[in-house]
Amino acid sequence: MARISAFPLLTIFIFISCITVQVTYGDEEYEFVKAIDPKVALKMKKEKLSLFRFYWHDILSGKAPTSVMVVPPPKTNSFTAFGLVNMIDNPLTVGPELSSKLVGRAQGFYASASQEEIGFLMTMNFAFTEGKYNGSTLTVLGRNPVLKKVREMPVVGGSGLFRFANGYAQASTHNFDPKTGDAVVEYNIYVMHY
Ligand SMILES: *[C@@H]1O[C@H](CO)[C@@H](O)[C@H](O)[C@H]1NC(C)=O
Repeated sequence: MARISAFPLLTIFIFISCITVQVTYGDEEYEFVKAIDPKVALKMKKEKLSLFRFYWHDILSGKAPTSVMVVPPPKTNSFTAFGLVNMIDNPLTVGPELSSKLVGRAQGFYASASQEEIGFLMTMNFAFTEGKYNGSTLTVLGRNPVLKKVREMPVVGGSGLFRFANGYAQASTHNFDPKTGDAVVEYNIYVMHY
């Protein structure tokens, strides 16, 4: 019995192996690369453009700061705080008030990367917690000259519902408290995703 049932299995296995080997890229073929039908991988979904709008709270003050300096600027006389690194776990809310609905958190860090003007390197994962977006992330990596009215940063990718995502984020300061350093920033993110 066992011998009889093993035969068709082996035949199928050899057949599948042949198909895999026939996949070629240009003139070459590689055993560690396989062509995938994007319609199957993306479950036949169409690419779409969405605008995500929320407020990003950079809280340095109080008992529970969400933005913490992990590297102080090496030169104390640098007015741009060149070299500073802040680790963030900033709440993202639908309205400018912190008490408004929480939709996710911006986790990552920003670092002062400019000596001429105040300009941060932003490295953040927007980790959403709301509805179907819960567990999906968008990754933003870009330059943020914070004194400019609108700063644009690329969306370089995502996970979950944002697989293959790309786009751009526009940030504009809604509120900044010079005493505490706390800031509320409006983010408008245009994302191409499936
Ligand atoms: C998001 O998902 C986690 C677990 O996957 C769950 O514990 C949490 O309650 C969800 N949050 C919301 C707001 O639905």
